[in-house]
Amino acid sequence: MISLWIPLIVAPLLLAIRLVRRPRPLPPGPRRKPIIGNLFDVPLQNPFAAFDTWRKQYGDIVYLEVLGNSIVVLNGMDPITELFERRAGNYSHRPVVQMVGELMGINRSIGLNNNDKVWRQQRKLAAIALGPVGAKQYIPLQERLVALFLSELEERPGDFMGLCELAAARLILEITYGISIENMENPYIKEAEDIFELVRRGVQPGAYLVDFIPWLKHVPAWVPFSSQATAARGRAQVEAFVNRPFESVKTQMAANTARPSLVASLLSDRSDVEGLDFEEILKWAASTMYDAGGESTAITLKSFIMAMALHPEAQTMAQQELDTLLNGSRLPTLDDRASLPYVNVCIKEIYRWHVAIPLGLPRRAEKDDIYNGYLIPRGSIILPNIRGIAEEGDHLTRFTPEIHLNKYADGSSDAPDPLSYVFGFGRRACPGKLLAENSLFIFIASILTVFRITKDIDSDGNEIPIDPKFQIGLMSHPEPFKCRIVVRSPETKKLLANQLLDRPIRGGG
Ligand code: HEM
Repeated sequence: MISLWIPLIVAPLLLAIRLVRRPRPLPPGPRRKPIIGNLFDVPLQNPFAAFDTWRKQYGDIVYLEVLGNSIVVLNGMDPITELFERRAGNYSHRPVVQMVGELMGINRSIGLNNNDKVWRQQRKLAAIALGPVGAKQYIPLQERLVALFLSELEERPGDFMGLCELAAARLILEITYGISIENMENPYIKEAEDIFELVRRGVQPGAYLVDFIPWLKHVPAWVPFSSQATAARGRAQVEAFVNRPFESVKTQMAANTARPSLVASLLSDRSDVEGLDFEEILKWAASTMYDAGGESTAITLKSFIMAMALHPEAQTMAQQELDTLLNGSRLPTLDDRASLPYVNVCIKEIYRWHVAIPLGLPRRAEKDDIYNGYLIPRGSIILPNIRGIAEEGDHLTRFTPEIHLNKYADGSSDAPDPLSYVFGFGRRACPGKLLAENSLFIFIASILTVFRITKDIDSDGNEIPIDPKFQIGLMSHPEPFKCRIVVRSPETKKLLANQLLDRPIRGGG
């Protein structure tokens, strides 16, 4: 009799278990081809156009597959906040890159590190050096370097692209190691560019076979085509790049000749790193600063110059605000920030108008997860489509600082604050945000005070149009363009000369 009841009880139970465990669908996305998946659906010339189409077609979350790797693109603040902030434990990892990361050793840097314990200590040091108290000590240096940049721009306005890059590089290297550079031919810059190129190449699908077949890393060096020889060469290059400036600061500290810097200040006031190797942690944390902070700052400055040449009305409004406050008596400083609301929203609009890191830095899902009924498979690479979020709504192609002003005046704009997305999210958000914001404010407010930026004029007196185009890549620079940058008036010229005397290029702090 009991045996009759068993199927009646067990069958619904099994059905319930099957329903609960039924494989969840993957998020929507373009149809995948066998083996290659969506490899050829992402046009290399303009991947953003494809991302835009998919955002409109599939919504906030899109699934792609490339050669067996799952890629999940997040197109809205809702999934980003849910996954990167509320479920940070699963989504604060970076993708594992075999060749440049594991074998060449760049995975020890703060930006790629996946070792929770080490990475947390690196973030702690970065927070001490670049947080509100740390960032404050660099303000005099930032103001001096801005004065130097302005004088160079006055001398060589046609080279504004190169000067923006030099200014951003100079700032990060001074702050990180106390290294002062004259030009972009400096050996450290060259090495940093080589390493960045290594990373850029290494994260491209197909660059190294070992990234598809990780067990190849165990093949010894003497076997033809083994990854070991390439890895050893890269590793030596990476070690030299990371060790040299760090050791040089230590030697200078021993000789009492070290200039003030992030590394020197953290070395002289060592914090507890929970039994880990303090110098190793600091060395690798510092090594990321130039590549992470230099380019993004330079991109924002160049985009600002382009936007001002294209939008004279916004430039005039910002200059009127500065003139009313400063009355031609001095250059702006960080203390003026609260009194310059229009300049502030112009800067926010630059961040939004062109996002320097359009797809952020990729993350990885550590475990299988379900979001809105969709399966996000373990190991998926997660890309926040920051550029897509920035262009949401009807302000797609315009330059409209006012959208951020309205938001603060009466809360009527629903455009999310660019500061809430351009610097990333959750635990992995940019640790250099405050430093970058301070630098960009001083740079931008000072350029606006001293110069007028307009489209260039050809030999017939016609304006040369500017086509706002940006490079495709992890970091998206403006394509080279021409514009005119002239000192606004004879009075401003005098002001600039006086400010240079007041802010000598060399000096403490
Ligand atoms: C306009 C300037 C900048 C922008 C737009 C920017 C943006 C970003 C973004 C989007 C990320 C990825 C965050 C994520 O995964 O959610 C990031 C990471 C990072 N940024 Fe920045 N950044 C800027 C300037 C700087 C500066 C000046 C520094 C240092 C001096 C810096 C250091 C870093 C580091 C070390 C990381 C890696 C953090 C980690 O993986 O834990 N950045 N930044």
